[in-house]
Amino acid sequence: MAPLRSAVSNGVAVLTIVNPPVNALGAAVRAAIAAGVAAAAADGAVKAIVLAAEGRVFVAGADISEFGKPPLPPALPEVVAAIENCPKPVVAAINGMALGGGLELALACHGRVVAPVARLGLPEIKLGLIPGAGGTQRLPRLIGAAPAFALMLSGDPIPAEKALAFGLADAVASGDLIAAASTAALRLAAAGTWSKTRDRAEKLTDEDRAAFEAAAAEALKKSARSPNVPALIDSVRACLSQPFDTALATERAHFAALVADPSSKALRHVFFAEREAARIPGIGKEVKARPIRKAAVIGAGTMGGGIAMCFAQAGIPVTLIEVKAEALGAGMARIRANYETSVKRGSLALAAMEARLSLITPAVGLDAAADADIVVEAAFEDMGVKADIFGALDRLTRPGTLLATNTSYLDVDAIAATTSRPQDVVGLHFFSPANVMRLLEVVRGGQTAPDVLVTAMEIGRKLGKLPVVVGVCYGFVGNRMLAKRTEAAERLLMAGALPHEVDAAVTDFGFRMGPFAMADLAGVDIGWRARKAAGAKAVKAPVADALAEQGRFGQKTGRGFYLYPEGARAGTRDPETEALIVSLSQAQGIARRSFTQEEIKARLFYPMVNEGAKILEEGVAARAGDIDIIWVNGYNWPAFTGGPMHWAEGVGLPKIVAALEALAAETGDDSLKPAPLLKRLAEGAGSFAAREAA
Ligand code: 3HC
Repeated sequence: MAPLRSAVSNGVAVLTIVNPPVNALGAAVRAAIAAGVAAAAADGAVKAIVLAAEGRVFVAGADISEFGKPPLPPALPEVVAAIENCPKPVVAAINGMALGGGLELALACHGRVVAPVARLGLPEIKLGLIPGAGGTQRLPRLIGAAPAFALMLSGDPIPAEKALAFGLADAVASGDLIAAASTAALRLAAAGTWSKTRDRAEKLTDEDRAAFEAAAAEALKKSARSPNVPALIDSVRACLSQPFDTALATERAHFAALVADPSSKALRHVFFAEREAARIPGIGKEVKARPIRKAAVIGAGTMGGGIAMCFAQAGIPVTLIEVKAEALGAGMARIRANYETSVKRGSLALAAMEARLSLITPAVGLDAAADADIVVEAAFEDMGVKADIFGALDRLTRPGTLLATNTSYLDVDAIAATTSRPQDVVGLHFFSPANVMRLLEVVRGGQTAPDVLVTAMEIGRKLGKLPVVVGVCYGFVGNRMLAKRTEAAERLLMAGALPHEVDAAVTDFGFRMGPFAMADLAGVDIGWRARKAAGAKAVKAPVADALAEQGRFGQKTGRGFYLYPEGARAGTRDPETEALIVSLSQAQGIARRSFTQEEIKARLFYPMVNEGAKILEEGVAARAGDIDIIWVNGYNWPAFTGGPMHWAEGVGLPKIVAALEALAAETGDDSLKPAPLLKRLAEGAGSFAAREAA
């Protein structure tokens, strides 16, 4: 299929970009646009040009998959310049999303007419980049440096009406978009004059410059680690101080450097891994989802309430079920309070809150689940409790109802075995707070039917989640790897490190919080109780256990790994806790020593990578990228490192294997010996991606 369709009527050449699914600007599309514009410019029958696109997206930007490969001509800035310098007026007809290079094409046009559903943005910042085809130069010239900087810094697209208010769009066409754009283009042609964005400067006032500098100073403070933020500031500043072509070269140099930076490579990996996760190996498009019109959630605790909120948010009626009216009342009150906080903050309209609440029906007793198409059980994490519930659901619900359990650790196959329809049972592991966190582990049981899995993935997406398929094992992917980090962190304390040193290494790596500050926030007693319940399967956490035995539960008791005087939220070092740690290692005859930050990171993260490799080998995760996005979206692993498995490849698998061998020998812990897969890949200089491609 040709990537550009050209049709001339009434003196207007309509050039329509056709590159499904999102009209990304790959080399063939770029060449076709350049040729199309040149041909229209040379065609005596053409007075004006409209640049349009087919489908629901205008243009999603440069083709991200071309980044990091040898560049193919023509470069996007050349195509953009060809449009701007065209001797006939060019008007963009923006039918949907115009992002990145897509908006940059439109910025070079001599006019922009947008559909009411259009959204316009420069999201490059989210890929560790900045706009590289003139966006940092033309957007400020069109709308002012300060608003342009805000738009490029957030990366979020703006709706049509806002684009109109900014002067980014000239008109919003509620009727025939192409007709409206053609009229606008012919009007320019008739007038015989139009402005090039590169020549405009009316919005670049002293006031605008001051507002931009203030916002830039603020942004630098907040994103000290992101190389693209200073590059963005420098490029916008160049717009304000350098001739257009010099400033354009400044932008392009920054862009080229950023494309080659490991952080952008990592963010691009995350972008594609998120999309890849939607594909379930072995299940094709012919498998259709079951219809879901009504849901039921069992358990009105924090988790169940959050899950019910997710359904309401997606417009799906949901019955929230408890055994006792009191617990149900408390659960509904918690949901209302949650919504009220959002209303107070201004992130939710009062009417929207009432609409959502009206979709949640409280009910006592499991009978109320009888007419649901999906039931999500979020009751106590206890096999006996879950077995009773699933046994009852098996009797109560219609054949074909999806029966989902929100367990974090329990065996989904064992839960499924308590029913006569294990094919309808699936795990939906939400993360807390369920109405906020994006990750959803979809646990595929041994007998889960393909269409149940497809339905679970689809419903996950409807709830605004990022669903990732995982297999049955203790802790699934995320918590199984987390256990390795917890164990390693405790081992570091016993060997000589102190909580603040371990936490500092982790926040320095890019996590918002270290494991000990996190334990104090969540409650040291939570893990302690879970370990007691899990018995032999539990990780070894001698320090956390000793703290919990003393009632040092963390923030809620004012002391845990750290001290929290007078309800402070940031902990300070606690001499008593540190003395306790020293005495615990002495009791085990361990000679304490100090650790560098690099050693701490290696000891924490290499065992996680090793566990990830075991998970892959067992088939619990289908792809290394699935593990990466689970950690980025569920556990705050810094996205700019690409997730644990991508990061490991950057470190070098042979280095990790050698370090794991040394660690296993030092600790006598065989579970730290490198996984066979890791060894094979390290020896063969292979990568996870290459293994999957094979
Ligand atoms: N390049 C290459 N492929 C892209 C792409 C892009 N810019 N944008 C989307 N795709 C691919 C996806 O990988 C996916 O492929 P798959 O079907 O094989 O998995 C397919 O297009 C559909 O994408 P989504 O699943 O994301 O579709 P949605 O409908 O959910 O979302 C979208 C559409 C909002 C356009 C979303 O795809 C998106 O945000 N895309 C990226 C936008 C972006 O970051 N643009 C900037 C690129 S950098 C740039 O332009 C540099 C320039 O300044 C020089």
